[in-house]
Amino acid sequence: MANNTRPETMARITTPELAQAFIDEQLAQLRAQIGEKKVLLALSGGVDSSVVAALLIRAVGKQLTCVHVNHGLLRKGEPEQVIEVFRNQMNANLVYVDAVDRFLDKLAGVEEPERKRKIIGAEFIRVFEEEARKLDGIEFLAQGTIYPDILESGPVKAHHNVGGLPEDLQFELVEPLKFLYKDEVRVVGHELGLPDNMVYRQPFPGPGLGVRCVGAITRDRLEAVRESDAILREEFAKNGLAGKVWQYFTVVPDFKSTGITDGKRTYAWPVVIRAVNTVDAVTAEVAELPFPLLQHITERITHEVKGVNRVLWDITPKPSATIEWE
Ligand code: XMP
Repeated sequence: MANNTRPETMARITTPELAQAFIDEQLAQLRAQIGEKKVLLALSGGVDSSVVAALLIRAVGKQLTCVHVNHGLLRKGEPEQVIEVFRNQMNANLVYVDAVDRFLDKLAGVEEPERKRKIIGAEFIRVFEEEARKLDGIEFLAQGTIYPDILESGPVKAHHNVGGLPEDLQFELVEPLKFLYKDEVRVVGHELGLPDNMVYRQPFPGPGLGVRCVGAITRDRLEAVRESDAILREEFAKNGLAGKVWQYFTVVPDFKSTGITDGKRTYAWPVVIRAVNTVDAVTAEVAELPFPLLQHITERITHEVKGVNRVLWDITPKPSATIEWE
């Protein structure tokens, strides 16, 4: 039975020196645990899996195989960044799986949010399983489990767990971050040389943009979500809001309204801006945004995003609304 209690003597990792001490200790432990054997990791590009990847690359190099599944619901530039950072810069063994068509075909016509989530989760495990079967001699599965996952939900939280793999594919777990809090993971990630926009990024749900393309996902509306989200993130970064607002994104609902562009009537989607602050995501308040910035973002989105003629700002706290729209 694995020990799942953070040692009382463990100092909170708040400085580069403490992060370096943690890294040194983990490298020794990982090398002792893994030896000459092979490890597999599902690398989403989120903070936790990225930090695990960076640690394991240092500890065991090419004995690690990272699998990055592009399910088509990632933000603009994310798959490219995973390839750039891990394959090109860190020289990792990275399997990139373009599963976009597969996921979008499975999701076609599905409106109900929880069914969308289930399809995305189940399909992810299936794709990962297929990749795992192609590899010989894997004995370990690395996971980005962090301490809140253990505290919140017993063994391992569902969205971190690519468990659910069939019986004949059970590997020994490697969980180097399991006693760390999120802020400590970020300090360690920074010390490992990961880019700031990877280490200090806002929370992003497992089902990704899939729950921000409200109702049945279509490729063109999904692109409107991705492009408008990229504009919002760019403008938040430029205006010093990226590190200050807890979570911010766009949503494209499944309805159209009339508009006018170059003297011609249009019938197109609205984009909703959502930006919230919270401590624990159980309740949330709406972030106050400068009006000129909202106007500028509106202008950019209506000019640059195909199929959009209107921008709305969601000023509803949680409760009564959830943070996401689905
Ligand atoms: P809600 O919408 O429930 O969101 O107020 C609270 C926080 O949880 C995130 N979220 C998810 N994260 N899988 C995840 O990994 C999910 O299915 C999911 N749904 C919501 C949401 O982004 C917010 O930070």
